[in-house]
Amino acid sequence: MCKKTLDLYRHEKSKPMTKTHDSLAFQRLGLAQVPKVLLLENIHQTAIDTFVRAGFSVDLLPKALSPPALTEQLAGVQILGIRSKTKLTADVLRASKDVLAIGCFCIGTNQVDLNAANGLGIPVWNAPFSNTRSVAELIVAEIIALSRQLGDRVREMHTGTWRKVAENCFEVRGKTLGIVGYGHIGSQVSVLAESLGMHVVFFDIVQKLAIGNSQPVEELSQLLRTADFVTLHVPATPQTQWMIGEREFGMMKKGSYLLNASRGSVVRIPDLAKALREGPLAGAAIDVFPEEPEENTNKFVSEICGLRNVILTPHIGGSTQEAQASIGREVAQSLCRYVVSGATQGAVNFPQVELAAVAGTYRIIHIHHNVPGVLSEVNRVVSEHRANIHSQILSTDERIGYLIMDLDQNVAREVCEKIQSLPTSIRTRMV
Ligand code: NAI
Repeated sequence: MCKKTLDLYRHEKSKPMTKTHDSLAFQRLGLAQVPKVLLLENIHQTAIDTFVRAGFSVDLLPKALSPPALTEQLAGVQILGIRSKTKLTADVLRASKDVLAIGCFCIGTNQVDLNAANGLGIPVWNAPFSNTRSVAELIVAEIIALSRQLGDRVREMHTGTWRKVAENCFEVRGKTLGIVGYGHIGSQVSVLAESLGMHVVFFDIVQKLAIGNSQPVEELSQLLRTADFVTLHVPATPQTQWMIGEREFGMMKKGSYLLNASRGSVVRIPDLAKALREGPLAGAAIDVFPEEPEENTNKFVSEICGLRNVILTPHIGGSTQEAQASIGREVAQSLCRYVVSGATQGAVNFPQVELAAVAGTYRIIHIHHNVPGVLSEVNRVVSEHRANIHSQILSTDERIGYLIMDLDQNVAREVCEKIQSLPTSIRTRMV
């Protein structure tokens, strides 16, 4: 497929050179020209701006591509940015020899064969925390909406029913919020809920610093028995699968509420439906489901549709403009840092290494198979070239080792070539 038919266009502000990274600097990075970025699936403008500011050349495509079209498009591309619809298979990754790093401008990374990327020396980034605040704000809005039965009143008004009632409608001030999973989102919810005058208790399997006046509890059952609102913010793990079911609903207070914007596998929906119909629950706000439609055009079906005081939303907890902007910035910055300094902090499939740059040193990054003796071979090559190692930092995972090394003499190119020819090498470049 030719580039024209794919409607690929170069971002108008993409300049091959800037003061900070001119083409000579990029040649030093082992790149023949300025790094070329390909962004698919309408990635946010903040990402484009970040790459352009760093002097990278940016090509854009509004859609995902099939594996063959993508492979063709990736010739000469160093940085690939995708969202959830582009499938990066092992075959595509193996065929795309120029790709140095991949950015998933979204939360999940299931669309990428992370294991294959790791073996090929390609780090992958995502943006797991860019939408933390968006989820927390939705939860706080829903706590008030449930407490005032807003969903039901709104639905009634839209169908012509004026039902002015105060029965079973409450203020949230002074009520107890139980947070299950006190991580990024849970702790933000805690801060916002306290500012509304709520008491906060939380349960986490890891010991966490309690923010504000919030109180940790030892057992989930303790939280379920005391909270007026229970909100779930745990990851999907074997431990959290179906962690809220009939037994747990049986422990909850009469007239309490459940909120789930974490993962669909955490709550047993048939048991939730029963707890809403027969008690003890007075309402629920559910954003995530065990089975979610793949497309906006697909129908959504669930046992809890149509039940009283139940707010249902289509997995939009993190879907805000601010979150999209922040994802664009965060992932693009990680990719730029990797190209120019070799830092892999935050990569989901790579050993994490970051080393502060020191003026007057020459940096090499080396990705290799994790077998004994690589470091002594690398050091032998360096000493053969009569260079001194200013700093060296190595981290490994099961399959690969990642080394950043600063030399204090300008022999990096020769050392780089020699190291790359070692049988254990995967990728080596100067930075
Ligand atoms: P996080 O990793 O920062 O926090 C999760 C917390 O849960 C950690 O403190 C962890 O120790 C705790 N935890 C793990 N297993 C537990 C267990 N069995 N019992 C109690 N606590 C347990 O994660 P973050 O960023 O706060 O996200 C939480 C959830 O929200 C994730 O499942 C994520 O997928 C989901 N999410 C949903 C969004 C939406 O659109 N609805 C958007 C963003 C995240």
